[in-house]
Amino acid sequence: MKILILSFSNNIVNEDSFIPNKMGLTFACVEECEKNLKEKGHDVEHICMNKKHINRCLACGARGWGICGNKNICIQKDDFNDIYNHMSEFDMYVFITPVYFHEMSESAKAFFDRLKRCDAFNDNSKIKGKKTICIACAGGSGKGTDETLNSFDTLNHFLGTKMIGRIPVTKFNFEEQKLEIKKAINQQ
Ligand SMILES: Cc1cc2nc3c(=O)[nH]c(=O)nc-3n(C[C@H](O)[C@H](O)[C@H](O)COP(=O)(O)O)c2cc1C
Repeated sequence: MKILILSFSNNIVNEDSFIPNKMGLTFACVEECEKNLKEKGHDVEHICMNKKHINRCLACGARGWGICGNKNICIQKDDFNDIYNHMSEFDMYVFITPVYFHEMSESAKAFFDRLKRCDAFNDNSKIKGKKTICIACAGGSGKGTDETLNSFDTLNHFLGTKMIGRIPVTKFNFEEQKLEIKKAINQQ
């Protein structure tokens, strides 16, 4: 299968480099997923979404509906439409976000807000029916993983995707949660 990992960590090595922090928990989960998926023979691509330019939804158009609702495309000229179209080439998705203020990260919110608008009512959706694994990476307290995963429930509902892995990770439970990641991947 072709599997796309989208990660949304805002962690960077320094302000200028815009390189994702390879020591971060989100990145550790990306590596764990990549390793397990490749071991199972899947074809894996990872996109670090914080390196992409994704503006927030403008809620343009009359009554808050732009052309996204019926043309399934966003009017903004940034990286969104290319990534949205690219998603159709994959059989399954892994979404990995850090937890900020008990929610998914800002880059995740910006992308998923626009994805829902373009795809939720798309009769020709190439995403609907596909499987997802959703991972929320929190700090020590782990507070907010529930809320973040609840938001992923909502996202999967509107996208019509089937969440086969719903995984809360903290820096203290990462070792044991590696097993949950493996289990979810083994369902493939
Ligand atoms: C702005 C901000 C808000 C955060 N809010 C929470 C939170 O609500 N709950 C929590 O457990 N950790 C919170 N954290 C900690 C991060 O979830 C944790 O550092 C996580 O590992 C970040 O992902 P990364 O390692 O990929 O950078 C917050 C961190 C930042 C920068």
